[in-house]
Amino acid sequence: MDGNGRWAQSQGSDRTIGHREGSRAVRTIVRAARRVGIEALTLFAFSEQNWARPPAEVVALMELLRDFLVSEREELIENGIRLRTVGRVEKLPSRVREVLDPLVADTAHLDGMTLTLALSYGGREEILDAARVLARRARDGELDVDAIDEAQLEGALPSLAVGRVDLLVRTGGEQRISNFLLWGAAYAELHFTRVLWPDFDEAELYAAIAAYQKRERRFGRVESAPLEPAVPAPAMADAAGE
Ligand code: FPP
Repeated sequence: MDGNGRWAQSQGSDRTIGHREGSRAVRTIVRAARRVGIEALTLFAFSEQNWARPPAEVVALMELLRDFLVSEREELIENGIRLRTVGRVEKLPSRVREVLDPLVADTAHLDGMTLTLALSYGGREEILDAARVLARRARDGELDVDAIDEAQLEGALPSLAVGRVDLLVRTGGEQRISNFLLWGAAYAELHFTRVLWPDFDEAELYAAIAAYQKRERRFGRVESAPLEPAVPAPAMADAAGE
Protein backbone atom coordinates (compact mmCIF):
# COMPACT_ATOMS: atom_id res chain seq x y z
CA MET A 1 0.00 0.00 0.00
CA ASP A 2 2.67 2.44 -1.13
CA GLY A 3 2.46 6.15 -1.58
CA ASN A 4 0.90 7.46 1.64
CA GLY A 5 3.94 9.60 2.40
CA ARG A 6 4.14 11.07 -1.09
CA TRP A 7 0.39 11.70 -1.13
CA ALA A 8 0.76 13.76 2.07
CA GLN A 9 3.79 15.57 0.74
CA SER A 10 1.87 16.58 -2.39
CA GLN A 11 -0.73 18.21 -0.10
CA GLY A 12 1.94 19.88 2.02
CA SER A 13 0.92 17.65 4.96
CA ASP A 14 2.65 15.40 7.41
CA ARG A 15 3.22 11.73 6.44
CA THR A 16 0.78 10.61 9.12
CA ILE A 17 -2.02 12.44 7.27
CA GLY A 18 -1.13 10.29 4.27
CA HIS A 19 -1.45 7.15 6.40
CA ARG A 20 -4.85 8.38 7.64
CA GLU A 21 -6.00 8.71 4.04
CA GLY A 22 -4.42 5.32 3.35
CA SER A 23 -6.56 3.88 6.09
CA ARG A 24 -9.67 5.27 4.36
CA ALA A 25 -8.53 3.54 1.18
CA VAL A 26 -8.24 0.27 3.13
CA ARG A 27 -11.93 0.56 4.10
CA THR A 28 -12.92 1.27 0.49
CA ILE A 29 -10.93 -1.62 -0.93
CA VAL A 30 -12.06 -4.15 1.67
CA ARG A 31 -15.70 -3.29 0.87
CA ALA A 32 -15.10 -3.40 -2.88
CA ALA A 33 -13.25 -6.71 -2.68
CA ARG A 34 -16.08 -8.25 -0.68
CA ARG A 35 -18.63 -6.90 -3.16
CA VAL A 36 -16.92 -8.47 -6.19
CA GLY A 37 -16.49 -11.82 -4.46
CA ILE A 38 -12.77 -11.94 -3.82
CA GLU A 39 -12.19 -14.89 -1.48
CA ALA A 40 -8.97 -13.75 0.13
CA LEU A 41 -7.42 -10.31 0.39
CA THR A 42 -4.07 -9.82 2.10
CA LEU A 43 -2.91 -6.29 2.88
CA PHE A 44 0.69 -5.42 3.69
CA ALA A 45 -0.12 -3.02 6.52
CA PHE A 46 3.19 -3.03 8.40
CA SER A 47 6.42 -4.78 7.53
CA GLU A 48 9.00 -6.19 9.89
CA GLN A 49 11.30 -3.51 8.45
CA ASN A 50 8.79 -0.67 9.15
CA TRP A 51 9.76 -0.75 12.86
CA ALA A 52 12.83 1.23 11.77
CA ARG A 53 10.68 4.24 10.77
CA PRO A 54 10.66 7.30 13.08
CA PRO A 55 8.95 6.37 16.38
CA ALA A 56 6.20 9.00 15.90
CA GLU A 57 5.27 7.47 12.55
CA VAL A 58 5.20 3.95 14.02
CA VAL A 59 2.94 5.16 16.85
CA ALA A 60 0.63 6.90 14.36
CA LEU A 61 0.38 3.74 12.25
CA MET A 62 -0.44 1.62 15.29
CA GLU A 63 -3.16 4.07 16.35
CA LEU A 64 -4.65 4.03 12.84
CA LEU A 65 -4.64 0.27 12.90
CA ARG A 66 -6.40 0.25 16.27
CA ASP A 67 -8.95 2.82 15.03
CA PHE A 68 -9.61 0.72 11.94
CA LEU A 69 -10.18 -2.44 13.99
CA VAL A 70 -12.53 -0.65 16.37
CA SER A 71 -14.54 1.21 13.73
CA GLU A 72 -14.80 -1.69 11.27
CA ARG A 73 -15.57 -4.44 13.78
CA GLU A 74 -19.33 -4.50 13.26
CA GLU A 75 -19.16 -4.10 9.51
CA LEU A 76 -16.64 -6.91 9.13
CA ILE A 77 -18.85 -9.24 11.16
CA GLU A 78 -22.07 -8.18 9.36
CA ASN A 79 -20.42 -8.89 6.02
CA GLY A 80 -19.11 -12.29 7.02
CA ILE A 81 -15.47 -11.26 6.81
CA ARG A 82 -12.97 -13.42 8.64
CA LEU A 83 -10.01 -11.41 9.90
CA ARG A 84 -6.63 -13.04 10.34
CA THR A 85 -3.06 -11.89 10.58
CA VAL A 86 0.33 -13.01 9.40
CA GLY A 87 3.59 -11.77 10.84
CA ARG A 88 5.13 -11.38 14.24
CA VAL A 89 2.03 -9.90 15.88
CA GLU A 90 3.50 -10.53 19.32
CA LYS A 91 5.61 -7.42 18.67
CA LEU A 92 2.54 -5.17 18.31
CA PRO A 93 1.64 -2.89 21.22
CA SER A 94 -0.97 -4.18 23.66
CA ARG A 95 -3.32 -1.35 22.63
CA VAL A 96 -3.54 -3.00 19.22
CA ARG A 97 -3.53 -6.59 20.46
CA GLU A 98 -6.45 -5.94 22.82
CA VAL A 99 -8.73 -5.12 19.88
CA LEU A 100 -7.08 -7.30 17.27
CA ASP A 101 -7.11 -10.63 19.11
CA PRO A 102 -10.83 -10.62 19.99
CA LEU A 103 -11.76 -9.63 16.44
CA VAL A 104 -9.68 -12.46 14.98
CA ALA A 105 -11.36 -14.89 17.42
CA ASP A 106 -14.87 -13.51 16.86
CA THR A 107 -14.64 -13.73 13.07
CA ALA A 108 -12.86 -17.10 12.87
CA HIS A 109 -16.05 -18.89 11.81
CA LEU A 110 -17.05 -16.45 9.04
CA ASP A 111 -16.64 -17.44 5.42
CA GLY A 112 -17.70 -14.46 3.28
CA MET A 113 -14.14 -13.33 2.62
CA THR A 114 -10.84 -13.71 4.43
CA LEU A 115 -9.06 -10.45 5.13
CA THR A 116 -5.49 -11.03 6.21
CA LEU A 117 -3.49 -8.17 7.66
CA ALA A 118 0.25 -8.63 7.30
CA LEU A 119 1.58 -7.00 10.47
CA SER A 120 5.22 -6.95 11.47
CA TYR A 121 5.49 -9.24 8.47
CA GLY A 122 8.36 -10.22 6.22
CA GLY A 123 8.32 -12.94 3.59
CA ARG A 124 11.87 -14.09 4.37
CA GLU A 125 11.10 -14.10 8.10
CA GLU A 126 8.02 -16.24 7.44
CA ILE A 127 10.06 -18.78 5.46
CA LEU A 128 12.71 -18.74 8.19
CA ASP A 129 10.08 -19.45 10.86
CA ALA A 130 8.66 -22.30 8.74
CA ALA A 131 12.15 -23.79 8.37
CA ARG A 132 12.46 -23.77 12.17
CA VAL A 133 9.05 -25.45 12.57
CA LEU A 134 10.01 -28.24 10.16
CA ALA A 135 13.49 -28.61 11.66
CA ARG A 136 12.01 -29.02 15.15
CA ARG A 137 9.55 -31.63 13.90
CA ALA A 138 12.40 -33.51 12.21
CA ARG A 139 14.49 -33.29 15.39
CA ASP A 140 11.57 -34.68 17.40
CA GLY A 141 11.21 -37.59 14.99
CA GLU A 142 7.83 -36.42 13.64
CA LEU A 143 9.08 -35.69 10.15
CA ASP A 144 11.24 -37.55 7.65
CA VAL A 145 13.65 -34.95 6.27
CA ASP A 146 13.83 -36.63 2.87
CA ALA A 147 10.04 -36.57 2.63
CA ILE A 148 9.73 -32.81 3.08
CA ASP A 149 7.84 -31.50 0.07
CA GLU A 150 6.23 -28.23 -1.02
CA ALA A 151 2.95 -29.12 0.66
CA GLN A 152 4.66 -29.63 4.01
CA LEU A 153 6.53 -26.36 3.79
CA GLU A 154 3.36 -24.56 2.72
CA GLY A 155 1.62 -26.08 5.70
CA ALA A 156 4.08 -24.27 7.94
CA LEU A 157 3.63 -20.90 6.19
CA PRO A 158 0.67 -19.02 7.72
CA SER A 159 0.18 -16.84 4.64
CA LEU A 160 -0.46 -19.98 2.55
CA ALA A 161 -3.49 -20.93 4.63
CA VAL A 162 -5.62 -18.94 2.17
CA GLY A 163 -3.84 -20.41 -0.86
CA ARG A 164 -1.20 -19.11 -3.21
CA VAL A 165 -1.33 -15.56 -4.52
CA ASP A 166 -3.18 -15.01 -7.79
CA LEU A 167 -2.77 -11.26 -8.14
CA LEU A 168 -0.31 -8.98 -6.39
CA VAL A 169 -1.01 -5.26 -6.66
CA ARG A 170 1.58 -2.67 -5.77
CA THR A 171 0.72 1.01 -5.74
CA GLY A 172 2.90 4.11 -5.74
CA GLY A 173 5.00 3.27 -8.80
CA GLU A 174 7.43 0.88 -7.07
CA GLN A 175 8.25 -2.22 -9.09
CA ARG A 176 9.48 -4.54 -6.38
CA ILE A 177 8.02 -7.30 -4.20
CA SER A 178 9.74 -5.91 -1.06
CA ASN A 179 9.60 -9.05 1.04
CA PHE A 180 5.84 -9.59 0.69
CA LEU A 181 4.35 -13.10 0.35
CA LEU A 182 7.55 -14.46 -1.23
CA TRP A 183 6.67 -18.14 -1.43
CA GLY A 184 2.97 -17.70 -2.24
CA ALA A 185 3.64 -15.09 -4.91
CA ALA A 186 6.02 -17.30 -6.89
CA TYR A 187 3.58 -17.40 -9.83
CA ALA A 188 1.45 -14.39 -8.92
CA GLU A 189 0.45 -12.03 -11.65
CA LEU A 190 1.97 -8.65 -10.81
CA HIS A 191 0.09 -5.39 -11.23
CA PHE A 192 2.10 -2.23 -10.73
CA THR A 193 0.37 1.12 -10.74
CA ARG A 194 1.67 4.64 -10.22
CA VAL A 195 -1.50 5.55 -8.31
CA LEU A 196 -0.63 6.43 -4.70
CA TRP A 197 -2.38 4.20 -2.15
CA PRO A 198 -4.74 6.91 -0.77
CA ASP A 199 -6.05 7.39 -4.33
CA PHE A 200 -6.45 3.66 -4.99
CA ASP A 201 -10.23 3.25 -5.20
CA GLU A 202 -12.84 0.75 -6.46
CA ALA A 203 -12.18 1.69 -10.08
CA GLU A 204 -8.45 1.03 -9.63
CA LEU A 205 -9.16 -2.34 -8.02
CA TYR A 206 -11.51 -3.32 -10.84
CA ALA A 207 -8.91 -2.22 -13.42
CA ALA A 208 -6.31 -4.44 -11.71
CA ILE A 209 -8.72 -7.38 -11.74
CA ALA A 210 -9.65 -6.76 -15.38
CA ALA A 211 -5.96 -6.72 -16.35
CA TYR A 212 -5.45 -9.96 -14.39
CA GLN A 213 -8.35 -11.60 -16.23
CA LYS A 214 -6.58 -11.00 -19.55
CA ARG A 215 -3.37 -12.71 -18.44
CA GLU A 216 -2.50 -16.23 -19.53
CA ARG A 217 -1.27 -18.24 -16.55
CA ARG A 218 1.02 -21.08 -17.59
CA PHE A 219 2.97 -21.93 -14.42
CA GLY A 220 5.98 -22.88 -16.53
CA ARG A 221 3.96 -25.07 -18.86
CA VAL A 222 3.13 -24.48 -22.50
CA GLU A 223 -0.64 -24.48 -22.39
CA SER A 224 -2.67 -21.98 -20.43
CA ALA A 225 -4.00 -23.09 -17.04
CA PRO A 226 -6.81 -21.35 -15.19
CA LEU A 227 -5.57 -22.19 -11.70
CA GLU A 228 -2.29 -23.14 -10.12
CA PRO A 229 -2.35 -26.80 -8.98
CA ALA A 230 -3.68 -26.80 -5.45
CA VAL A 231 -1.78 -28.11 -2.46
CA PRO A 232 -3.20 -31.55 -1.56
CA ALA A 233 -5.87 -31.18 1.11
CA PRO A 234 -4.23 -33.43 3.77
CA ALA A 235 -1.21 -31.14 3.92
CA MET A 236 -3.37 -28.12 4.64
CA ALA A 237 -5.22 -30.11 7.29
CA ASP A 238 -1.85 -30.85 8.92
CA ALA A 239 -1.07 -27.17 8.90
CA ALA A 240 -4.31 -26.30 10.60
CA GLY A 241 -3.43 -28.74 13.36
CA GLU A 242 -0.08 -27.09 14.11
C1 FPP B 1 3.59 2.60 2.72
O1 FPP B 1 3.54 3.95 2.26
C2 FPP B 1 2.51 2.38 3.70
C3 FPP B 1 2.71 1.92 4.98
C4 FPP B 1 4.04 1.59 5.51
C5 FPP B 1 1.59 1.77 5.94
C6 FPP B 1 0.28 1.31 5.42
C7 FPP B 1 -0.74 1.56 6.46
C8 FPP B 1 -2.00 2.04 6.25
C9 FPP B 1 -2.55 2.22 4.90
C10 FPP B 1 -2.92 2.44 7.39
C11 FPP B 1 -3.09 1.50 8.54
C12 FPP B 1 -3.47 0.10 8.17
C13 FPP B 1 -4.71 -0.44 8.22
C14 FPP B 1 -4.90 -1.85 7.88
C15 FPP B 1 -5.89 0.34 8.61
P1 FPP B 1 4.80 4.91 2.49
O2 FPP B 1 4.69 5.52 3.83
O3 FPP B 1 6.05 4.11 2.27
O4 FPP B 1 4.60 5.99 1.39
P2 FPP B 1 5.73 6.57 0.41
O5 FPP B 1 6.12 5.44 -0.48
O6 FPP B 1 5.04 7.66 -0.32
O7 FPP B 1 6.84 7.07 1.30
